[in-house]
Amino acid sequence: MRILVINGSPKGERSNTWQLTQAFLDGIAEQLGADGIEQRTVVVRDSNIQPCLGCFSCWRNEKGACCLKDDMQSIISDRTWADVTIWSFPLYYFGVPGPLKNLIDRQLPMALPFMEERTDGVGNGSHPSRYNMADKRNVIISTCGFYTAKGNYDSVLTQFDHMCGKGNYETVLCGQGELFRVPELHERTDAYLEVVRRAGSEFARGTIAPDTRKELGQLLYPRQAFEAMADASWGISRETGKAEDETIVFTRQMAALYNPASFDGAERVLEMDYTDRGTSCCVVLGKDSATVVTDGSVTPTTSIHTPYDVWRDIAQGKISGTDALAQHLYRVTGDFDLMIRWGEIFGDPNGGADSPESSTDGSGLKPPVMLAMLIPWIAFWTTMSIGPMVGAVGTIVACAVTALAFCQHEHTFYDYLSLACVLALVAASVAGVPFSVLSPVSFVAFGLMWLVSALWFVPVSSYYVKGSYGGDSALGNAIFIDTNRIICLVWGVTYLAAAVVSFFAPQITIVTSQLLPIPAAIFTVVFQRWYPAHVARG
Ligand SMILES: Cc1cc2nc3c(=O)[nH]c(=O)nc-3n(C[C@H](O)[C@H](O)[C@H](O)COP(=O)(O)O)c2cc1C
Repeated sequence: MRILVINGSPKGERSNTWQLTQAFLDGIAEQLGADGIEQRTVVVRDSNIQPCLGCFSCWRNEKGACCLKDDMQSIISDRTWADVTIWSFPLYYFGVPGPLKNLIDRQLPMALPFMEERTDGVGNGSHPSRYNMADKRNVIISTCGFYTAKGNYDSVLTQFDHMCGKGNYETVLCGQGELFRVPELHERTDAYLEVVRRAGSEFARGTIAPDTRKELGQLLYPRQAFEAMADASWGISRETGKAEDETIVFTRQMAALYNPASFDGAERVLEMDYTDRGTSCCVVLGKDSATVVTDGSVTPTTSIHTPYDVWRDIAQGKISGTDALAQHLYRVTGDFDLMIRWGEIFGDPNGGADSPESSTDGSGLKPPVMLAMLIPWIAFWTTMSIGPMVGAVGTIVACAVTALAFCQHEHTFYDYLSLACVLALVAASVAGVPFSVLSPVSFVAFGLMWLVSALWFVPVSSYYVKGSYGGDSALGNAIFIDTNRIICLVWGVTYLAAAVVSFFAPQITIVTSQLLPIPAAIFTVVFQRWYPAHVARG
């Protein structure tokens, strides 16, 4: 495929739109392979393209030669060479930028002077093409500054209807174009670029699929969030017209990402205390929106004490917030719950990929659940206390039901290990080993599983609760792992204690297995909230 790319942004390669164009080209290359593509690029900004003089000398000249000698001759030859022309440009005043309009005007030599009727219902009258352009394809890729592309490209599309024939071109038109240069938002813009890449592949195969087209039309951010971010980005107060401190601008942009759906009835006030700048901004997280208050008139419920650069690096994804917290690069005082729910409160307004319900490994399975690991053990302790026969049948039935009930969930190594241990214990019981022996052995095995995982590996509990803390990324979070390590140690010791009790009193195994964990459970509930907040306070 021969591709001519016309970059009509005055910013050249620093253009927002160019990122989309690159993604589209990557998609084509992915489909056709690098050898399947020949590409020529015209950067309008760097080309010598003079405005048309309107002298019609090109039409008087039988070869269609323009009297102006500049880069247009080679551009016209590129246009006739290419199978596909990609027009990449920003929307300027609801049209194409001026220099690109010059290029379009200077294509007059590509037409013959004679009058011709149009057959596609676009306008009245046209000129026949001097060259055979019938099978040539055109793609318009453009970004604009308003929140949506919808309704803003009517002039451009009408112009291309006239140039190429009605709708005889593909489009990738994207609002909120300036967001493509904001590193803090790269996760969202990268996701959009991925859709553009897919569109490129589909275009190379034939045409952009309806689903992809629909995704291309989706807003990067909801209108309200985008416009709040955009307004804040100028660093000028709307009320006073005066320049604002960059920490206030930054906080306003952060507040713009507030997700009102996370409001749970309690109004929270997040204070951003920029320790190196001596400034502090409060974000009031209300029912419908987040408001930035800088006059000290509100009382914070959570305060983040951080150097400005640290928080900016976190926002840009250069360091994760939890890693920075573990390294004591910032401190948090007050209600730590807000930090735990950060992803939900300032998260992705379009989806919530990190929600606990979503699959963590792309397999379509739900996250693992601890019950899948616990039920076989509980069934063993409960039913074996009644008798070996009831125990064997009850435990096996419970294992089978558990496997069925959680078949839609991912399984961890510890689910399988538990199942294997419990079935081995059942087999030993069937072989005649008395419960007075099996009971302490089972508690030792269960306790060791927690202890060994806590001391040498990723603690057992981490796998089951990571979904509420950002998914797999939580496994790399030192505070999360330390919290779980300590909790697992407590559970390990608890069950070793249970082993001792059941060694001396196997007849009360059912009571032991149900009462001993109560203090450990209370500890877990309290500790998992207290410890991260304690570390965060510095
Ligand atoms: C002179 C000028 C005119 C603009 N006119 C519009 C417009 O009419 N509608 C719009 O949504 N954005 C408009 N914008 C915003 C740009 O289209 C937007 O910033 C775009 O993402 C820039 O893309 P680029 O980086 O590829 O040049 C205008 C920008 C400038 C500088």
